[in-house]
Amino acid sequence: MITIISGTNRLGCNTLKIAKYYQKQFISKGLTPQLLNLQNLPENLIISDLYGSRSTEFEKMQTLVNNTSKFVFVIPEYNGSFPGVLKTFIDACNFPSSFYDKKACLVGISSGKYGNIRGIEHFNGVCAYLHMHTMPLRLHLADIKNELNENDELFKEDTLKFTTQQIEKFIAY
Ligand SMILES: Cc1cc2nc3c(=O)[nH]c(=O)nc-3n(C[C@H](O)[C@H](O)[C@H](O)COP(=O)(O)O)c2cc1C
Repeated sequence: MITIISGTNRLGCNTLKIAKYYQKQFISKGLTPQLLNLQNLPENLIISDLYGSRSTEFEKMQTLVNNTSKFVFVIPEYNGSFPGVLKTFIDACNFPSSFYDKKACLVGISSGKYGNIRGIEHFNGVCAYLHMHTMPLRLHLADIKNELNENDELFKEDTLKFTTQQIEKFIAY
């Protein structure tokens, strides 16, 4: 099963729009990917779900992670890296079973020029530690406000070409 992780809990985030866009594209290719939205993390996550604690709220997310063999991580650039809340989520998940020998597709997003190149590199290091296999084709969507149309969908010809290629490669990966 494929699960798309929207890598921030910021309300109104562009990351969730891109995660939903990817979900639609996978559905259009006959798959049924799940969406894991970090906005739905337990409010008290750092107390309720770290270092051996487990809440019933997080247990549902953990089950989704357990049932997933391929993850798409949509990751915004926050202060030149990936969001701390994404690392906290990873830290809260059971180790090592949650991600071990599973596959990952990485999509970086930013309002600035670089599409989270550095944050994707940083996150790739975490993936390597977890024994997660990241697909070589990683995308960087810069200047994200100008990438989305009024329906919160990607529309630029070259962006559609590269996202479609990434999605098709990840299905085959
Ligand atoms: C805490 C924080 C730090 C950010 N740091 C950067 C940054 O280093 N570079 C950049 O281009 N954009 C930065 N942004 C802007 C985000 O890239 C932008 O909001 C984009 O839409 C993706 O994040 P979002 O999913 O929260 O909307 C930052 C945003 C926040 C909330």
